[in-house]
This record gives sequence, structure tokens and C-alpha cells, in this order.
Amino acid sequence: MSEVFNFCAGPAMLPKPVMAKAQQEFINWQGTGSSVMELSHRSGIYKAMAKKAEVDLRELMSIPDNYKVLFCHGGGRGQFSAVPLNLLPQGKSADYIVSGSWSKAAVAEAKNFGEINVIEINQDTDNSSSLLDSSDWPLNPEAAYVHYCPNETVNGLEINTIPETNGVPIVADMSSTILSHEIDVSKFGLIYAGAQKNIGPSGLTIVIVREDLLGQAQIATPCIMNYKTAADNDSMYNTPPTYAWYLAGLVFEWLKELGGVKAIAKVNQAKAEILYQAIDNSELYSNHIQSQYRSKMNIPFWLKDESLNEKFLEEAEKTGLTALEGHRIVGGMRASIYNAMPLEGVQALIEFMQQFEKRNR
Ligand SMILES: Cc1ncc(COP(=O)(O)O)c(C=O)c1O
Repeated sequence: MSEVFNFCAGPAMLPKPVMAKAQQEFINWQGTGSSVMELSHRSGIYKAMAKKAEVDLRELMSIPDNYKVLFCHGGGRGQFSAVPLNLLPQGKSADYIVSGSWSKAAVAEAKNFGEINVIEINQDTDNSSSLLDSSDWPLNPEAAYVHYCPNETVNGLEINTIPETNGVPIVADMSSTILSHEIDVSKFGLIYAGAQKNIGPSGLTIVIVREDLLGQAQIATPCIMNYKTAADNDSMYNTPPTYAWYLAGLVFEWLKELGGVKAIAKVNQAKAEILYQAIDNSELYSNHIQSQYRSKMNIPFWLKDESLNEKFLEEAEKTGLTALEGHRIVGGMRASIYNAMPLEGVQALIEFMQQFEKRNR
């Protein structure tokens, strides 16, 4: 089979060398005669691997010592509940910035657990999409925290400046942007990310939380969602998603070998630039998001003649370019180009798009 480039938004493409290594040690990990997924999470050999994955992630993201790194269950949506349960005490409210479908979904869930102040920042006209600058967000200085989603996976909108909240902890859903470019973790109270885009397989969620925010969970917080319980038990209060944790560790090693987040950020910038350029220079494709808010990870584009959508997807698939269909909410196409998508994958997509346009003038 010729090479396939998978543009799925998640679960997404994983780095080839990581998959090859996992395959090679699948049934006999580190000479144990067992698969890593068959071993106790409490065995010394597993715990050493788990610790190394954490140390590597800390190094990759320069995570300060006063932050805990938790390996959790429950995906991004699990955190939509866990965040208010852990950080929103009775009598306080939290600010939720809505910039697209995932931040909206976070609001719907958080409302079950406390008072949520919704701040809508989309600025759409008929032919352009933009966002209200963070300096103009009407934030409540007394809020328990401010929640936002720096990269809206469905809408292809990215907020690439960290808001100034004057001491109110910032909580960020980085599910589709974590590890794609350098960030200053010390500016955040809490960062979370489902693994299935830039980290590894689904089933694992990373939470990075400042220590002083632990220990104020609402009484009804389920123990497997309680950050303090997770922190006190090295994320092993119950059985963690052991295989996903192992695979995430391989992805972190791969990223370190490539030169870390700084190095991959350059590749990500280059991939996004050439794809947006190809869209903007074409007569057939369009993306109406204002340039400073365009996502570098999820690039939606629309065919001006929508009757060609099905044909586009069919022919792309035959060329080995898969999972390009846009999210059902926004339609069109979407190319998710996370860390594991090589530059050649994006070049192959552009070549296909240009040929398709020529054939369908
Ligand atoms: C930004 C963002 N947040 C949350 C989620 C939900 O993640 P999960 O399906 O792991 O609950 C997604 C899924 O794509 C996402 O992209």
C-alpha cells in the first residue's frame, strides 16, 4: 500500500517511528516476556517507565516544580466536569470564554457544578471569522478561574496570546495544541489535554496543575476526578490507562530526539503557512478566518462549489489522503496537521488540491 497521510482531528496520526517501536516490543517489553499492557501498574518496571514519561514531558514543556503532572482518565470532556468540581468552590463563579464548539461544550458541562459567567468572543460577519482581543474580555476580577480553549479543533480558531487575568488562575483546554509550540506554563493555573492528538492514543488525559490549586474540591467530587487524590497517588489511585501512558512516553522520547517543542513548532509553522497559502491562492478553496486567529493544527477549508465535496473526498482517499471531511457542525473540509503529520503529508495534500482544482475548472 502506498503511503497514507491521515488528517483526522483525533484520534490522530501517530509518529511512524513510535508505532514501529511499539510494534517491535508489543509482546515482549523490556525482556519481561509480556506486553507492557499485561503488567501491573504497581510493578517497579512499569513505575520507572511512567516516571520517565513524566520527566520527559516536564522537560519538553519546561514545567516548573510547583506544578503536578497528572495522567488521568476521561478525555477532554472528563475535564469539563473535573475542572469545576476541583476549582470552583461554593459562593464563587468562574469565567468561561466561548470561542467555538469545544469551549461551548465546556460551559454546558460546568454549569452542572457551579455559577458560570459566559463570555462570547466570536466576531463573525458574512465572509470573515474573528475573535475579540483578550485585552477586551470583560473578566470578573473575583472569578475562581478563567477557562478558555486556545485552539478550537472544530472551528480552526486559535488564540495565541495568553490572556492577562491579573492573578485569576487561567485554565486552558489544550487538547489540540499541547506540545505544538512553546508556552510559558507558569502563566497557567491548569492545563489539560486529551492525548489523542499530539500525545498518544485516546484514553489518557494530561493535567498540569499548580500545586496551590489542589485540595479545594467540592465534596461530591468522584475520587477518580479529584486532582489531589491523583497527585498524592502519582496518578495511580486506580488503574491508569497503562498502554496509553506507555505510548505517550514513546511520543515524548520521539519529540525530544527531534529537538523538542521549539523544533517541532518550526515545522508546524511551515506546514500551516504553505497550506493557508495554497487555500488563499486558489479559486476553489476558501478559509475565512482572520489570519491572526488561524489555527496551525486544524485547518478547515470550504470548496466554493459544494457539489464537489463528495468527489473531493473520494479522490483524496484514493490518493492516500484520508479523513479530510470537515466536522459536521461546520461542514467543508478540515486538515488536522498535528506534530506527527510530516511536511511531506501537507505537500501531498496541496499537490492533490491543486490538481483537483485544475480538473474541475
Ligand atoms: C479542544 C477539545 N476539547 C475537548 C475535546 C473532547 O475530548 P474527548 O473526546 O477526549 O472527551 C476535544 C476533542 O476533540 C477537543 O478537540
